[in-house]
Order: sequence, then structure tokens, then C-alpha cells
Amino acid sequence: MCGIVGYVGPNSTIDVLLGGLKRLEYRGYDSAGIAVLTDGGELGTRKRAGKLGILAEDLTAAPLNDGHTGIGHTRWATHGGPTDGNAHPHLGDGGKLALIHNGIIENFAELKQELLDRGETFSSETDTEVAALLVGEVFRETGDLTQALRRVVARLEGAFTLLVMHQDRPGVVVGARRNSPLVIGLGEGENFLGSDVAAFVEHTKRAMEIGQDQIVTITPDGVEVTDFAGNEVPTREFEVAWDASAAEKGGWPSFMKKEISEEPEAVAKTLLGRVHDGRVTLPELAAIGELLDGVDRIVVIACGTAAYAGMLGKYALEAWARVPVDVELSHEFRYRDPVLSPTTLVVSVSQSGETMDTLMAVKYAKERGARTLSICNTQGSTIPRESDAVLYIHAGPEVAVASTKAFVAQVTALYLLGLDIAQRRGTMDADAVAAQVEELQNIPAKLDQVLESTATRIAEFAPWLGDTQSVLFLGRHVGYPVALEGALKLKEIAYIHAEGFAAGELKHGPIALIEPGQLVIVLVPSPRHDDSLHPKVVSNIQEIRARGARVIAIAEVGDVAVVPYADEVIRIPFAAPLFEPILGVVPLHIFAMELASAKGLDVDQPRNLAKSVTVE
Ligand code: M6R
Repeated sequence: MCGIVGYVGPNSTIDVLLGGLKRLEYRGYDSAGIAVLTDGGELGTRKRAGKLGILAEDLTAAPLNDGHTGIGHTRWATHGGPTDGNAHPHLGDGGKLALIHNGIIENFAELKQELLDRGETFSSETDTEVAALLVGEVFRETGDLTQALRRVVARLEGAFTLLVMHQDRPGVVVGARRNSPLVIGLGEGENFLGSDVAAFVEHTKRAMEIGQDQIVTITPDGVEVTDFAGNEVPTREFEVAWDASAAEKGGWPSFMKKEISEEPEAVAKTLLGRVHDGRVTLPELAAIGELLDGVDRIVVIACGTAAYAGMLGKYALEAWARVPVDVELSHEFRYRDPVLSPTTLVVSVSQSGETMDTLMAVKYAKERGARTLSICNTQGSTIPRESDAVLYIHAGPEVAVASTKAFVAQVTALYLLGLDIAQRRGTMDADAVAAQVEELQNIPAKLDQVLESTATRIAEFAPWLGDTQSVLFLGRHVGYPVALEGALKLKEIAYIHAEGFAAGELKHGPIALIEPGQLVIVLVPSPRHDDSLHPKVVSNIQEIRARGARVIAIAEVGDVAVVPYADEVIRIPFAAPLFEPILGVVPLHIFAMELASAKGLDVDQPRNLAKSVTVE
């Protein structure tokens, strides 16, 4: 949570900061603020509660003098409410130093008392202000901003990215990170810092990673990275794989709508270069190749939508690679003393690569001797760095808080992993692998069909459901994680109570919720699948209809058996069982978006949430 940007260079600092914050606003939108060292040599700050637009309007109405050194922040509130006073930057050294922060300083109360005892005064309720005041004190003593930050971070407990600048040090921004993201952008005669590359990608695609517990000092002509002890450390430069335009709305009414439209492309990009002649090739897994040959257990760790992708991965990995798979919420996993061994592979799934719960679970798994693989979308993020290997999904930037295209891409990546292990272990013959590869390769075109045939219809009827108080989602087998995903999306962006259930569980309790008018959305498996699930789900629909439920069925084109029992049928093309959920989830994404839009809600920035959950 919280987006951070820093800039030193010849261009308008205010423009660079506001542009960067606009692209980082998905990380938090409780308040926004900037600090700029003006050409007159004064530190100017402006900060406002609410979304970035409020700050931008304020700056238009009463411009701040521009300069060539600055920092900017967009906040997801932790300590202290979303007010002007609690917005960042916070000041130290009598107002000459500005500091911004992402994370939580856990020992702030004790540090605050110490500062109060020394006569310092506070103007906010945040944990951040202690860091600003402490760095200010050490800077007064040493005159060295990097050293001042180094001395202070040694005293902080918790997770943090801090950026600091001082009126007496024009052209210098210093950053530090511990368990919270920070990336360097390398320009010509200018340099940038950002929570992720989106902060500066419109100015440069050259980026550099910063490791945990490291400090970076940027000037227009140089970048110096050291560890917290002051030793120089090796750095790794990389090229951002997407253009700034990929993180723009590009004429779409919302990022969510744009990103749903990109679901076919996201799957295609995940497959690109990884399937040849009916085989899967994943050179990225070389570092864990030996383990994959003999892996005896896989644990998938993730949160939210990524965890539902993990649940789908379990079905495929077990069916194809014949390896037992557990799927766990990251925040539960590491607090329950799980059994891990050197032959266990822990697979983290995270779009952002920064989810704190998942990062901590990865570290925990490594400490206990397991090998780790990250399935991730965001280059330069922390979880891949902390993992033994990474499989990037290459879905392009996902800006809307609700995860959509990343979900289908994550499932695709997990399926590729399943087929790769199956090839290594010989649990499938070449023809069987080739058949599944073909199914995967057909998914983008089928997703195009789903978008084409369902988007308009859902947009027509969703507004009529605007008053709905509660929606239940049902699915069996691979339909179950999709039901959970559909319910999460509706809660998250339409603020409607929703629950996903395994359809077989209905009679074990949830059916008591059905009363006349209750809306139930059912994922109906194809009647052409070689299993007995279709008639069972149709029976479930009959049972709830008999109790007055209104039913929307997501069913295969040509499945007439559902028609008498559904108020509405949304059609998807045929796909083999394991691939059907990648198609079936898209109408649920559209449904949540349309219902939220009909209620007049901001689908990209739902209340109380942030895209990247970097606090536990
Ligand atoms: O960045 P991650 O994939 O690690 O994020 C995990 C969850 O926070 C995320 O999927 C969340 O549930 C989404 N907002 C759901 O749409």
C-alpha cells in the first residue's frame, strides 16, 4: 500500500511527481502529497486528503514553485485517518527535510516518546513522522543525508520504504527499503525512484532493482546503492517490458474494463515462447530443475484472487503431474508450523510480487528448507527476487484494484508448470501433453468469443440487479474456485454481499439461505465432459429453483438442459474440463464490473482497498 515516487533532474519535478503518482494511485488513494525543492532553494510541500485529483486541482488553483528535486506519495492509511495532516510528506529538521513512507514502523510509539522527551513536536498521528524527525536530528549532526537515513533505519522495526530529501541538499533523494518495494529508474541526466516501474516508465524503461535492507542515493548523474551497513552491493539492471501506454486507460471508461478486454491477450502472452510442437519449455525453471524432477509435494501460497488461481492450479498439477498439492492462504501458512522439506516446492502466486503476506510466507518457506518458485506479473518486484525461480506471466500492468487479466494468466502459468512437471516425470505421454497444450493455445480465441458474446448482454441486464443485496455463486470441481472468484469480485467492487460455494456443499447448510428472490449464479460444466458433473449441477439448480431462487447460469453453447431452470443463461464455448474455468470466469468479471458501474461506483478504486497489500 502507498505509492512512492522520487525525482532528480532537469524537468518539471511537479509534472514528474504527479505523473508518477497517477500511475501509482492504484496502491492507495486516501491522500496524496508532494515535496519539491524550489529553484529558490526552499522546500515546498502540498498534501491533501482524498484522491490524487484533489491535490492536482489544488496545485492548479494555487501553484507551488517548481524545482528539480522532489518526492511524492499516495497513501493507504494505516496509522492515523485519511486527513490533510496525516498525508505525506512529513517534515523534520525544522521543516527543511521531507520524508515519505510506505509500510509500518512497528516501534514508532517508543521512538515517539523518546522524541517527545527531547522536546520534538508532532503534527500528525502517523508512525512516519518519527522517521522524519529522527532523520532530521541526525542530519543536523552529520550534514550527510545518506548517513542520516542509514543511522535511523537501524533503529526502525517493521516494514518500510522511506524516501527523504533536504533543503540543503539540492539534487539528492535518498531511499531505503526493508520488506517494502522500491525500484530505481535510470535516465539521462535524471534519475527516479518508485514503488514500481509504473512510477517512471513514461520517462525511462531502464530500471534497477534494490535488494532488501539497502539504501540508494540518487543524483541527476549517479546512483549509489549500499547495504544498511554502508557496504557497496551488486545491482541488477533490467529493461521494463511494457510501454507507458500499457498503463493508460486508452479510451476505456475504466482500467477494469480495459483489463477484462485484455484477458485473451494475457493468456496468449503467458504462453508466448513457452509452447512448441506440443511441448512445454520453461527455461526459467532451470535453477529448480533438479527439484522438479523429484518433487514430492507442492504448496501453493497466495492471497485473494491469486489464491483462487492457485486452487485451479491444484486440479491441473495433481491430474497431470501426479504430485500432491496444497493451496494455502499465505497469512495462514506461516503461522501454523507447516511440514516442509527440501523436496517440497513452494509456489507463490502474486500479481504485484509485493503482497506482504505472501512475501513473508516465501521467506518462511526458504528458512525451513523448501525451494521456492514465484508466479508473478511485476518485473523488479520483491517476491521474485526472494525466490529460487520465477515464471513471469507477462500480462502487462494491471492497474484496477480488482484483479482480472492476472487471474487467467496465473492459471495459465500454473497449467504450464503442471505440464512441465508431467513431462519431466513422465506422468503423461507426449500425445496427452500435446492435447493439453493445444487446449491452452485455443484459450485466447475462445476468450475473445466469450467477450464478444457476453459483454453486451451482461451490460444490459446487470443494471436491473442494482438493488440486489446478496448473491450466491455455485460451482463444482474447477467451477468452485471460479464461484469464489465471482463472489470476491462482487464484494470488492460492487459492495454486495456474496458467497461462493461448492455446489455439493449446498445441502450441508448453505441451502438454508435460499429464499424467494435470492440471486444465485451457477457455473454449469459442459454436458459433453466425460464425467457426471453436469446432471449433478442441473439437479442443484432445480433444488434452489424449487425454493424460489433466481438463477443465472453460465453454461456451454448448446446446453439446453439448463434452460428450463434458469432465468438467464450466459453462453461460453466448449472447453475441456480443466480449461472451462478460464472461460467461465470472464462473465463473472464483467458482471461485477457492470453491477458496480450501474450503482455509480468507482470500479477501479473501490473503498478501503489498495491494489498491492504491502502490510500484514
Ligand atoms: O498482488 P497479489 O496477486 O499478491 O494480490 C493478492 C490479492 O491481494 C488480490 O488478488 C486481491 O484479492 C484482488 N484485489 C482481488 O481482485
